[in-house]
Amino acid sequence: MRPALDLLEVAEGGLTLSAAEFELIRNLARERFGLDLRQGKEELVKARLGRLIRQGRFPSFRSYYEYVVSDRTGEALVSMIDALTTNYTSFRREPAHFEFLVQHLLPAWRNRRSLRIWSAACASGEEPYTLACTLLEHLPPSSSPEIHILATDISTRALSAAERGIYPAERLRDLPPVWLPRFFLRGHGSYEGHMKVKPEVRRLIEFGRLNLIEPFSHAEPFVLIFCRNVMIYFDRPVRQMVVERVTSWLEPGGYLFVGHAESLAGLKTGLEYVRPAVYRKPSPGELPAGSRKGRR
Ligand SMILES: C[S@@+](CC[C@H](N)C(=O)[O-])C[C@H]1O[C@@H](n2cnc3c(N)ncnc32)[C@H](O)[C@@H]1O
Repeated sequence: MRPALDLLEVAEGGLTLSAAEFELIRNLARERFGLDLRQGKEELVKARLGRLIRQGRFPSFRSYYEYVVSDRTGEALVSMIDALTTNYTSFRREPAHFEFLVQHLLPAWRNRRSLRIWSAACASGEEPYTLACTLLEHLPPSSSPEIHILATDISTRALSAAERGIYPAERLRDLPPVWLPRFFLRGHGSYEGHMKVKPEVRRLIEFGRLNLIEPFSHAEPFVLIFCRNVMIYFDRPVRQMVVERVTSWLEPGGYLFVGHAESLAGLKTGLEYVRPAVYRKPSPGELPAGSRKGRR
């Protein structure tokens, strides 16, 4: 008699993903990346990993899994997470954050000596480049603080696109028209139809690989952290841990931006709710965490 497990098998171009194989991959993704592949994500796993399995000519999901866990270079694991996570992003995504930055934060920050900002899941770079262009546009050169933007992601594929800083022109369609000549170079020849971020924007950003669920540290704290549209991948205990670790690198009075579809509701953060998807770390002596504002 065939085991009941087989009822859950799903075929992908001749490959099947059994419930047991899905559990192996699910546990690995959770342990190593915090990725929450709930029941029902079998189709996603099949479709995204199926391509890698065919390329590597693995006979089954189990043999692919065994290869990934035994690969000491870690590269197979990185390819697996690249395939499983979505790197969707765009320039000026969730514009309310950039408007809040320009209207409420930059006027108070223009006389600082430096601005250290972290884009904590920067994907292919549109978020940190938007940030850099916004700062260059709105900080008067005479009083400008030194700008340092750290942009990190777990995906090496997304990071190499970010470091190149070359984008199809249609992705820049909705940017303020003055930004194009000021911050981008137009591609020619084989780069026709593409735009490249100018070196003066690029040099404000340092890119690096960082897994938010592994221990990390930085040289100094940040006045603003973007941690947007990444916590959706994590279950609640992982979200709690990531928020604690990330905000421990926020300076007192600094701000955390999360995605508008995300919420810190139900997490212990010690942060004040400012407005949707915007939180502030109180300075010592200010309102204690857990006050009315801090709980949203
Ligand atoms: C949907 S994109 C969000 C990009 C950008 N922050 C935005 O809001 O447009 C999510 C990014 O999170 C990254 N990611 C997923 N798990 C991660 C982890 N454990 N550590 C760091 N980055 C992670 C993915 O590689 C992906 O580039």
